[in-house]
Formats: sequence, C-alpha cells, structure tokens
Amino acid sequence: MWKGRFRGETDVRVRDFTQSLDLDWCLAEDDIRGSLAHARMLERVGIISQEDLRRIEEGLSEILEEIRNGSFEPDPALEDVHMNVEARLTAKVGPSGAKLHSGRSRNDQVATAVRLHLRRRLKELKGALGGLLKVLLELSERHQEVIVPGYTHLQQAQPISLGHYWMSHFWAFLRDGDRLDLALMSISRCPLGSGALAGSTLPLDRFMVARELGFEGPTQNSLDSVAQRDALLDAHYFCVSCALHWSRLCEDLIIYASREFGWLDLPDQFCTGSSMMPQKKNPDVLELSRGKASGVLGRFVDLACMVKGLPLTYNRDLQEDKRGLFESLSVTGSVLEVLSALLERVEVDQTRAMECFSDGLALATDVAEYLVMRRVPFREAHEKVGRLVRWCVDQGRRLHGLRLDEIMRFIPEAGEDLLPLLDIRTSVERRCTYGGTSPSEVRRQREEGARLLESW
Ligand code: ARG
Repeated sequence: MWKGRFRGETDVRVRDFTQSLDLDWCLAEDDIRGSLAHARMLERVGIISQEDLRRIEEGLSEILEEIRNGSFEPDPALEDVHMNVEARLTAKVGPSGAKLHSGRSRNDQVATAVRLHLRRRLKELKGALGGLLKVLLELSERHQEVIVPGYTHLQQAQPISLGHYWMSHFWAFLRDGDRLDLALMSISRCPLGSGALAGSTLPLDRFMVARELGFEGPTQNSLDSVAQRDALLDAHYFCVSCALHWSRLCEDLIIYASREFGWLDLPDQFCTGSSMMPQKKNPDVLELSRGKASGVLGRFVDLACMVKGLPLTYNRDLQEDKRGLFESLSVTGSVLEVLSALLERVEVDQTRAMECFSDGLALATDVAEYLVMRRVPFREAHEKVGRLVRWCVDQGRRLHGLRLDEIMRFIPEAGEDLLPLLDIRTSVERRCTYGGTSPSEVRRQREEGARLLESW
C-alpha cells in the first residue's frame, strides 16, 4: 500500500510481527459499514461519482458475503482487516475502489470500526446482564422466607433472609448496568473524518457519516479522536466491575456449599467430579468464574498502562488495545450466561442453615438493642450483653435457651418481653429499617428492582 516510499520488500518477519488479523478480523463487518457510510458521503460532497459509489457498494456487499460464508482468506501481507477489505475491493472494482480511502486514515477508520463493534457487543452484554438480574430477583422471591447467617469477617454476624442476600448482588449488578450505559455513552460520537490526526483538506461531511452510522454526531477533536482509548477503558471497566462482583458472589457460594457450611446445594449439572476421589462434587464453574475475573482486571490494567505514556496521537502500540478488551468482553458474556443458569438451580437446606445458629449468639445485637429501647446507653448495653455472651460460651449454653433469671444476673434491666425476641426468625422480621433484611423491606427492594428492570 505504501510501495511508493519504500525500496524493496518488507521483511517477512516484520510482516508477521505487525499484522493484526488475529485481532481485527472480527471487525470486518463493522469496517464495511464504516466504508459504506464514508463512500456515500464522498459521493454526496462530489469527491467520487455516482458510478464510483455504485461499484463500491456492490463490491463491498460481495465482500461482506465472502466474509460471512468464509471464502475470504485475508492476506497477512496486507497487515489488517482494513487493508484487506480495501485491497479486495480494488481488485474487484478497480479505480473506484482505489478512491474509497480519500480523506480517511486507518487511524480514524479503526477507531470507528471498534466503536461500532463495541456498541453491538455491549448491547448483547446488557441483555445477558439483564438475564442475571432477573434470576437474582426470582431467587430472592423464592428464598424470601429462608434464613441464613450473615457474615462480617467471615464470622457469623446476624441472621438474614436469603432473599435479602440475593438482592445485595442484584443491586451491585444493576450498577454495572449503569457502567455499561456510560460505556455506550463514551462511544456515542463518530471519529471518522478525523483522518490520520488533523482532519482533511477535502470537504468531508462528518455529520452525515455520523448520522448514517447511528452516532449522535462527530467527535469534536481530530487529534483526540485517533489518540484516545478511554472509551475502550470505559467498556473494559464495565467488565472489571462486573467481574469483581461475580467473583465475590462465586466465592460466597463456594464457601456456603462447602461441607462445613453446607446449607447451599449447587446443581449437579453445574459441578464436576474428581478423577480420583469418588465422593467429590466440585464447584469448578464458580472457581473458574472467580479465576477468569483476575484476567479481566489484569487486561484492563494492561490497556491503562499502555495508554499512560503514549505521546499523542496515534502510535502502533494502540493496535494491541483490542486484544485484552475483546477477550474480556467474551469472558464477561460467558460467565454471565453460565452463572445465571447455575443460580437458577441452586437449592438451600433450611434445616442446615438453622443449625448454624445453634448457640443463638447471632441474637446478641438484638438484646443490646432491646436495652437501648429501655434507655440503657448503647455502650453499657454492649458490655452487659458481652458478659452474658462470655458466660454462655464458658458454660456451653445457648443464648436463646436461657431463663430470664439467668439473663438478669448480667442484665438487671431485662424483662419478660425480651424472651420472645430471642428467636432467629423474629430477629430477621424486626430488622425493618429501610434497606434492612425484614421480609417487608426485601419485598420493597424487589418491587423497586423489578420496576427498574422494566426499562432495561
Ligand atoms: N491495525 C491498526 C490498529 O489496529 C490500524 C491502524 C494502523 N495505523 C497506522 N498508522 N499504522 O491500530
């Protein structure tokens, strides 16, 4: 393509080293869409003739067909998808094809193709994320009445409704939906027409091209258009945030399904066995999802590092921008899918879950708050209940199995009305502050969540 300037052939090692077909062949359809819009604009402003445009359109639609049916074999000597498509076009339609690149550079061309590609893939991911959110809502409804331990420091803290637990992940993933929308906003303007970096002396109509490709308008600054990759970072950060969320969810489920916790049962079809130990049922899907989350984060950092020290504007380093991002997008898609399917089928063992509360100590805060309502300063209440807990631990007694006189040795303010509060289910039902774990509050969350999902 640049043979005019050079003496001799490119070294074959350089050809193999610089080609990016493994990264960008998947952009072929987006590249062609961009080229069609560019060509129509070139015709409209009088740079190419109607006849040129007709040939370009015909040629490109044939090429599209060849790409779809797999008969187009790209040539690595032509570096990337953009040059391959253009060379094929010129081979097909001659000089009309050779006019297509007027006013255009691969720098604005690739920036545009990547945006078109991302728009499509982000919308697919939005669907997959919506699917996961629906499953979480359903689980919350199904497990509304199931009570399990809530943890801080992975130490039993207070009893919670499992429905509340599922909703906690619902809200986290819902915020990822906002991040995805932000990523879509970051790619809402069209870089095409920025040229190599400075715009063009040709009378290009960038507004027309942007409209034609479904963008809100053209980007504002040609240098920024070919140099910036924060739009890609935004898309990548959506994946990162999602990955951090699914990874924590997976970690929880792995723990809850372990024999020692044992109140969560993972579906057999989503677990794997051991080649040696016949009794094993391993949560490999959850572990792999957790493992793949590291890759997503690592690749995000990779892209950020690459951009960090780059002089404006385009540098060939940027060709590598697609490698990690595309991988992270597909990992995100596959995890969202498999995780939704797994979650739909999890079962709980309420009896096992209740056994976790056998010492009743998870009710200690309830006792302290009972005292607060009797005007005991909280710090004093905390200490008194702490002493009672200490005594229970030493004596091997259950907090919710004590007689009132035993309690009163530590807490003289206690009355008969404390005893019915020493119950796991009652404890959950009474936590009805806004956003708390009581059934009424969890129902409210679900209603609000379902309402937000309607406009997904
Ligand atoms: N394949 C290149 C990329 O993905 C296209 C841009 C090449 N531009 C250049 N000036 N060499 O970034």
